Amino acid sequence: MNFAFAAADASKARADVLVFPVFDTDLTDKKHPPKNLISADKKTKGLLFKTAASEGFKGKAEQTFVFQSHGKVGATRVILVGLGARAKFTPEALRLAAGRAVKTATRMKAKTAVVQLPVVRELDQAIKAIVEGFELGAYKYDRWKTQNKDEKNAPRLDKVQLFLPEGVKKEKMHDGMVAHARLVAHATNWARDLVNEPPATMTPTILADAAKTMAKEVGLNIAIGDRKKITELKMGMFLGVARGSIEEPRLVQLSYIPRDPEAAKRQPVCFVGKAITFDSGGLSLKPSDAMIDMKTDMAGSAAVLGAMKVIARMAPPFPVHAYFGACENMPDGNAYRLGDVLVSKLGKTVEITNTDAEGRLVLGDILAYANEQKPAAIIDLATLTGACIIALGNYIAGAFSADDQLFYDVSESARLAGEEIWRLPLTEFQRDVLKSEVADMKNAGDRAGGSISAALFLKEFVGDTPWVHLDIAGPSQSPRERGYFSKGATGIGVRTLVEFIARRTEQLAAAQ
Ligand code: BES
Ligand code: MN
Ligand code: ZN
Repeated sequence: MNFAFAAADASKARADVLVFPVFDTDLTDKKHPPKNLISADKKTKGLLFKTAASEGFKGKAEQTFVFQSHGKVGATRVILVGLGARAKFTPEALRLAAGRAVKTATRMKAKTAVVQLPVVRELDQAIKAIVEGFELGAYKYDRWKTQNKDEKNAPRLDKVQLFLPEGVKKEKMHDGMVAHARLVAHATNWARDLVNEPPATMTPTILADAAKTMAKEVGLNIAIGDRKKITELKMGMFLGVARGSIEEPRLVQLSYIPRDPEAAKRQPVCFVGKAITFDSGGLSLKPSDAMIDMKTDMAGSAAVLGAMKVIARMAPPFPVHAYFGACENMPDGNAYRLGDVLVSKLGKTVEITNTDAEGRLVLGDILAYANEQKPAAIIDLATLTGACIIALGNYIAGAFSADDQLFYDVSESARLAGEEIWRLPLTEFQRDVLKSEVADMKNAGDRAGGSISAALFLKEFVGDTPWVHLDIAGPSQSPRERGYFSKGATGIGVRTLVEFIARRTEQLAAAQ
């Protein structure tokens, strides 16, 4: 999708659609009527507002209204997308509205769009949100569709003109915002592709190869280890989980090292992603209705990969490492058993009481490995527990941390990126449920507080390093089309991690 800036009257511009983001007071505001919107309405002799009102469109969040202009304005159709109350405005409202606009425009087979940017305080953030909303909203996963070729080959929106609000001059910074937003959205859509891909064609080997292709493309260092390497590193928990599959496991490390030798010496940030390419539950087999979505169990690694793709281009003044241990969790004659004791990389022993609690086993070894870098911070993303979906639903990630400062930084990053996270406690007495009679601990507790015990299990492997664990089981997939989401993979986490690195870069510059 190409974006260009324009000024003056958007309703004169020729395009397939003219998009107005509309606040819930815009259509009735007598004191501060939104100039460009009024001008469009005037050109239609008041029909735009009149039909919108009669269709019940008020500019509420999630509302969309389409108007056939019959040549009264430059565009064939006018699309009004609701933003809700101005007092509650966030760039995320605009991102969601832009997503709805592009989905509506695509249904009308539009190829060109004109967008009137709303008058809001942080215009740069608004531009970023609109561009991301357009690119994310246009996403479609149709690789495996062979029927309905018309739909597949239907025209796609590829030209968008952004009209600056009255009196605003175009600045260079606006182009930079567009470029960054496109990069972030493309990386997120790529992460979505990795997650949406069927498990037979997104095996550990294929996922590692995808990481390698990306690393070469953007100039990141990459190291890929096979079963032999994983054995040498004594990752007994990772190996245990990988045993039941004929697919070879892969240990992947991507590294961004700044060119400046002084910057390269700084303490790194480490990202870790869960990368179970299919989670059948193993011998503690999942029922079919719980197994159906388990190709998404590598969404954490997809987020980390998407973020690294952008971070390589951002070139922050400190190293960033990303790790994942990719394998399948399968039942088999060679699979790890209930009652087995696995010896972790750190030497701690773990009694297996449920082979479906596999994520924490792989992550435990990978976190310990990442921690060898003596990082300033570790952030892991994992589709770790069904319990987190029960607690927070499909749109919010659970966040766990013993470090208030790092949690705050991640939380601010998520807020600025328009991704929602919510802190859950790392209550130590919950750790009792992981007590084992035969080993140092069990891998699974009971149902009560399942997300907390999973997080406490991970905590055993990060030492005193500042660490945030994001349980993304819920938001890794959207159950329906909404805003800039389509049903399926969301690419959750990419935007938060990118924002985290951007903020950290600013903080470092400010401190010098
Ligand atoms: N991958 C699942 C968690 C999950 C569930 C992700 C639903 C996305 C949607 C994880 O490996 C798992 O099976 N967790 C178990 C843990 C239990 C056995 C202690 C769970 O949540 O039931
Ligand atoms: Mn599982
Ligand atoms: Zn899993």
